[in-house]
Amino acid sequence: MTDQELKQEILKLKKEKNTVILGHYYQRHEIQELSDYVGDSLALARQAQQATADIIVFCGVHFMAETAKILNPSRKVLLPDMEASCSLAESCKADEFAAFKAQHPGHMVISYVNCSAEIKALSDLICTSGNAEQLVRSLPEDQKIIFAPDRNLGSYINQITGRQMVLWNGVCTVHDAMQAEAILKLKAENPDAPVVAHPECNAALLKVADFIGSTKAMLDYIKKSPSRRFIVATETGILYQMKKENPGKEFITLRDDRSCACDDCAYMKLNTLEKLYRCLSDEKPEILMSNEMIEAARRPIERMLEMSRQLGLVK
Ligand code: 13P
Ligand code: SF4
Repeated sequence: MTDQELKQEILKLKKEKNTVILGHYYQRHEIQELSDYVGDSLALARQAQQATADIIVFCGVHFMAETAKILNPSRKVLLPDMEASCSLAESCKADEFAAFKAQHPGHMVISYVNCSAEIKALSDLICTSGNAEQLVRSLPEDQKIIFAPDRNLGSYINQITGRQMVLWNGVCTVHDAMQAEAILKLKAENPDAPVVAHPECNAALLKVADFIGSTKAMLDYIKKSPSRRFIVATETGILYQMKKENPGKEFITLRDDRSCACDDCAYMKLNTLEKLYRCLSDEKPEILMSNEMIEAARRPIERMLEMSRQLGLVK
């Protein structure tokens, strides 16, 4: 089938099977185009929780689809490619994390949503890059905290809040590999262009960024900014939304400086039109979890959503 035929078939099946397609900003542009909702991890978790469709197809990575299942277990949740993992989730295995936790008695465990259901079940509170700072600030100052699995996001939050959270040593291999030197070179060549960066980037890069935020926060900043040109330090899938929302504005990426596609997340890019079509027609691969795991992992996610509501971060 041609891409056009695949798109038509996907839309037909989506209607016939009462399906909602949720897509992350890092997905291929043709998948974002077909998604009913495109968003960051926080917005997509909320969409999943509120979904009334029989089937949720999650076009993102495994931990995102798992979160959708945890929040809305009576729905069938499909992920076009089960291999779509995340280096942060991979860095944090439940047995090693349980041992790490045992070494730090009296600590509250905050886990970034980019982790497996097993890690969520071992956590007191989940956060996303869209609410991590506010959630941490809302806790008593003397609260001892373990933060997992992203050491870059954790050390950024430590730096801006003055906390001393104990960090798990995981990274997003895509954002961590982006180099401050390359950004500084782009900045020197394009002095009018502010640098927007995701907090999963390493500390040296974040130091030279003009704006740091989640995928949604970066999009909002760009929309409101009077600047016409931006240097973007995050996964390239988001350029589709940046361009769509800001016709006339220009985006400069590390790809313009490096001759590789290393700012693409290979996991995010595993989902293709063909796999989305097959997943809708076969109704698999499906996210399946035990009720016990769903219950245990749901507690800290619901706590995040409740605290986010109280803090006015979500409605
Ligand atoms: P956001 O929640 O900012 O969309 O980030 C998800 C992610 O995986 C970033 O690499
Ligand atoms: Fe995980 Fe990084 Fe890919 Fe996001 S970009 S899904 S954090 S590997």
